Amino acid sequence: MVPTMHRFPDEFEDMLTAAGRRVLAGRSALCGVLAEPRRRFLAETGLVDRRQSQGAVRLLDRALHASLRPLEQPIPPESTWNMTKDYSEQLPKTVRVKTAYFERRREAAYKRAEEIGLASMMRSPSFAAFAAALAGRKLRPQWGVQVLCYGPGDYAGPHNDHHPESTQARHGYIDMHLSLAGPGVLRQFLVHAVGGHLSRIVDVATAGGITAYSLPLWHYTTPLEARPGAAAWAARRWVLLGTFLYASPKRIQPR
Ligand SMILES: [Fe+2]
Repeated sequence: MVPTMHRFPDEFEDMLTAAGRRVLAGRSALCGVLAEPRRRFLAETGLVDRRQSQGAVRLLDRALHASLRPLEQPIPPESTWNMTKDYSEQLPKTVRVKTAYFERRREAAYKRAEEIGLASMMRSPSFAAFAAALAGRKLRPQWGVQVLCYGPGDYAGPHNDHHPESTQARHGYIDMHLSLAGPGVLRQFLVHAVGGHLSRIVDVATAGGITAYSLPLWHYTTPLEARPGAAAWAARRWVLLGTFLYASPKRIQPR
């Protein structure tokens, strides 16, 4: 049975398991892994309580799904028909997902996120402290938060999340995702680059899995596959996303 959650805890810490709390306390082998030059990505389960995560899927669906906005960037036809040389294709970032940014307080999604305690949990000190523990670096005291919701067939094409126009982000930053997949999600994967090839694949169809990125890094998310006959609410993967800038930027090489 899916546990009931009426409100997110005020602190992210209260969603963590004992293993998750060890990260927060600086007593885990995961502390600082993203600071290792070759380690640009991690995917871990068992850090966030699974039953709370399952309850959060229902809560998000009830409270937030109706106020999400579609984000759709399909393959531009010119990427094929304006080609003049064989094998010269270039694919800009393609995506289909629903999203809510919490930058404008008057937006319906923000109000709903405040009502269910989501906005304050994603802005809680332990949310940032957890990201800083994985990063192994001091992070800026302000961070960006966003919610994504993948339904059946939703995906993100290859992209690297590099922001050369931002003086604060152009030398790299950290993204941390909490995956909250419903029980009707059969499969969804994250593929990322290692050594210049999109060759590593991880399962992100988890209720309570953490993925964290030292960006920029080439990656893509495969289309969400639902279990046959799954209810609409169950066949969704929610992502609670925090974007953290380094307190002191340092040049890193994109992979
Ligand atoms: Fe991305």
